[in-house]
Amino acid sequence: MMCTHYGPATSMLALAGLIASVFKAHLSWHASVSAVNVSVSSTPPGTSQNLLSTLLSFSIEQDRWPDWTGIDRRNQFTFNALDNYAQLTGTPSKIRVGADSEDHTTWSPTVTINSDSFPPPNSVTPYPEATQIVVGDGYYQLSKFLLPGTHMTWGVNLGLDNVTNAVNMAKSIVKAFGASAVKAAGVTLDMIEIGNEADLYKNNGLRPSNWTVQQYVVDWESLAGPVSEAAGLRRGGVTFQGAAFAGTGFTPRQIFDLGILDGTPGKLITTISQHRYSGAFCSGGDFALSSFMSKASVRSNLTLWLPDIAASKQHGLRYILGETGSIACHGAPGVSNTAGAALWVIDYALQAATLGIEETFFHEGIGYKYNFFQPISLNRSVVDGSPLDPPQPPHVMPSYYAGIVINTLIGQTGSAKIVELVVPDDNVSGYAVYEKNVLKRAVFVNFHAWLLSSTGTRPSVHLDLSFTSGSGVKNATAKRLVIQHADDTQNLTFGGQSYETSDARAGGKITQESVDISKGLDLLATEAVLLSF
Ligand SMILES: *[C@@H]1O[C@H](CO)[C@@H](O)[C@H](O)[C@H]1NC(C)=O
Ligand SMILES: *[C@@H]1O[C@H](CO)[C@@H](O)[C@H](O)[C@H]1NC(C)=O
Ligand SMILES: *[C@@H]1O[C@H](CO)[C@@H](O)[C@H](O)[C@H]1NC(C)=O
Ligand SMILES: *[C@@H]1O[C@H](CO)[C@@H](O)[C@H](O)[C@H]1NC(C)=O
Ligand SMILES: *[C@@H]1O[C@H](CO)[C@@H](O)[C@H](O)[C@H]1NC(C)=O
Ligand SMILES: *[C@@H]1O[C@H](CO)[C@@H](O)[C@H](O)[C@H]1NC(C)=O
Ligand SMILES: *[C@@H]1O[C@H](CO)[C@@H](O)[C@H](O)[C@H]1NC(C)=O
Ligand SMILES: *[C@@H]1O[C@H](CO)[C@@H](O)[C@H](O)[C@H]1NC(C)=O
Repeated sequence: MMCTHYGPATSMLALAGLIASVFKAHLSWHASVSAVNVSVSSTPPGTSQNLLSTLLSFSIEQDRWPDWTGIDRRNQFTFNALDNYAQLTGTPSKIRVGADSEDHTTWSPTVTINSDSFPPPNSVTPYPEATQIVVGDGYYQLSKFLLPGTHMTWGVNLGLDNVTNAVNMAKSIVKAFGASAVKAAGVTLDMIEIGNEADLYKNNGLRPSNWTVQQYVVDWESLAGPVSEAAGLRRGGVTFQGAAFAGTGFTPRQIFDLGILDGTPGKLITTISQHRYSGAFCSGGDFALSSFMSKASVRSNLTLWLPDIAASKQHGLRYILGETGSIACHGAPGVSNTAGAALWVIDYALQAATLGIEETFFHEGIGYKYNFFQPISLNRSVVDGSPLDPPQPPHVMPSYYAGIVINTLIGQTGSAKIVELVVPDDNVSGYAVYEKNVLKRAVFVNFHAWLLSSTGTRPSVHLDLSFTSGSGVKNATAKRLVIQHADDTQNLTFGGQSYETSDARAGGKITQESVDISKGLDLLATEAVLLSF
């Protein structure tokens, strides 16, 4: 399945038709509508959680890092795509570089930027990860091309278990962030992560099959000690990101019990990171989008971390999903690259925030199916590896819109609070956001799938809002995330605007609606709406 790129002009035409059809759909809601009452507190309930400006952050596969940043000059598409997000919250997304290729990277004094060896592509994995990455000092210095104000975390190789190499990498990283070009760019290093998904080493050959969490702690300390000394890590300065486990094979609670936080390098751990995907496409398979779009699954994939979140906080540590996404091994076609996945991202990231997960780093790699955007031209389909001639220019994917919705909801204060709303529908979720104790915005996501194969009248849910704790909210403005079909891979708009443009900047006129709260509003199957009060 090849995708054609639509420039701004085509997008505008598509948009006009889209608005007309959505309008029609809303007029015909009576055909198949269910009504739900939602109670919204006008002041933040005690259960509300901090909603960080950087909730939406990104993890980038280390092998093709220079493609994201640019080498001789900055990649303007990457810059614009991230800048759209930063403008909404006033703060750029954080960037972690590492992942699987973190444990296949070595530093060399004779390499300028990087030199990678890739296995051949195939239809399941059209853009495989490099098996070997050799980097030089110039590689880390490309961080200067990110947005001013960006905070970064960089990965160091634990898989190789070579202290000299780990120290070389860490020194090169710290040197880059001390370089005048990176300092002038206002990009800073927060943390170093030693080892990616070490709980999988015993399965992927980086350690023997009987390797244990006890040995992990010993190995981690044997590298982290020399790394922290050589790179000058200290509390209040650059610190360690801990854990970065793939699953529940090793847990943060286990390594706390083994005393990792009491050791000299362990005292420098400030954040616990875990990784989560809701499935895996490593050897292909069929995934049904309609079952993936499930409120219950989003919750069960996140609540499983509650004991680790609680334990981390008890130790005074921040807790994040340092790498996450819909389906592991770069995503599943027909799921990860669709508009339905954009709705999933909204619910997933916001649900995480309500559980005390401070940030969610969505994983991105060149040509991956679950990307928010592709920063360079691609000459193979991300879906099945078939040739694309002409190549497809840089473009945003459906999940990009989720980030726009999330960051609009977060707003500019840096001190917003979030609470989940009780929506009595199995597949409609809602969240309210407060600033300075005042209700500011809410978002609703309707997961009921409206597919290309769906027939009849598109269903909708009628939402009636009632406000508790005083204050009469009488009206609101609404911006919709408009999706034609859950399985579409393009043609989304938010508030009337498309980001499917050649430079990732918004195109099209802003459209928003006035909502009379006493009448409520309809939300189509496979749609999200953001309300501002
Ligand atoms: C996007 O919209 C255009 C114009 O309406 C249409 O031709 C195209 O098939 C749509 N693409 C997808 C993937 O829905
Ligand atoms: C919603 O609340 C109104 C007013 O309290 C009530 O009349 C109505 O039955 C409720 N609807 C549902 C679906 O619970
Ligand atoms: C460890 O890394 C250093 C630096 O890259 C290299 O010279 C050395 O041979 C490596 N040691 C082993 C045992 O591979
Ligand atoms: C793990 O297996 C290796 C042989 O593959 C053995 O030498 C080693 O003693 C084992 N370690 C433990 C802790 O059982
Ligand atoms: C996670 O989500 C997937 C996909 O929706 C679902 O099949 C699975 O049951 C969920 N896993 C857990 C542990 O809840
Ligand atoms: C695609 O681009 C890569 C990198 O520029 C190049 O090596 C490869 O030959 C191209 N493949 C096709 C099918 O054009
Ligand atoms: C909605 O929720 C139900 C129950 O959790 C689930 O079986 C279904 O697949 C979900 N998705 C859609 C699109 O209705
Ligand atoms: C609500 O209505 C009032 C009076 O018509 C208007 O001044 C205000 O801008 C409206 N607010 C929103 C959020 O639409």
